[in-house]
Amino acid sequence: MFNNKNLFKEEIFKRQLYLKQQSYKTIPLLKTVPKHIKQVVDGTAGLLEDSLWFLARGLSVHAFEKNPYIFEKISYYLPIENLTYTFGDSIMLLEDSIEFLYLDPFFEQKKSKSPKNMDWLKHHSHEEINKELLCKKQIQHLVIKRYKHLPSFLEKNHDIIYGNKIRFELYSL
Ligand SMILES: C[S@@+](CC[C@H](N)C(=O)[O-])C[C@H]1O[C@@H](n2cnc3c(N)ncnc32)[C@H](O)[C@@H]1O
Repeated sequence: MFNNKNLFKEEIFKRQLYLKQQSYKTIPLLKTVPKHIKQVVDGTAGLLEDSLWFLARGLSVHAFEKNPYIFEKISYYLPIENLTYTFGDSIMLLEDSIEFLYLDPFFEQKKSKSPKNMDWLKHHSHEEINKELLCKKQIQHLVIKRYKHLPSFLEKNHDIIYGNKIRFELYSL
């Protein structure tokens, strides 16, 4: 993947075209963002796959990545309009009050069922969400991506939006 500097711009463009032809509701991730939200925080940026959908939908994104190797690789494709990209642990760096936070942490699974890009990412990252610190924050909309078979990320009431193999847990903290 690391050769085309315009890769992300092209990806956003493709997704914008898709969203012109199809409702955003066909993308479960986008259904998690209430209509009044204009800016989202992606606390687990990774390869920015999910952030690219937010950007294609016209949202501003502040994405955090704490793995230095991934951060450096992804920085090669930036800047991108409406995207702020910050190095470090999002949970540590974020303000105490946040309107919309999206988290897609890794989770344990048996054999790798994840796409190839995700295998690469997993290999290069050692991530953990500090749940205790997370729960001390005031977050109006906290969205967590989980595989369907896994238990809830937090032991708190939440709504769910289902995707194909995954679900999004929607909390308010
Ligand atoms: C499953 S991947 C996210 C994939 C991403 N949603 C995408 O679409 O490409 C998890 C990523 O989040 C990063 N990460 C995990 N915890 C983090 C944290 N607390 N702060 C910043 N980055 C974190 C990991 O280093 C890894 O790159």
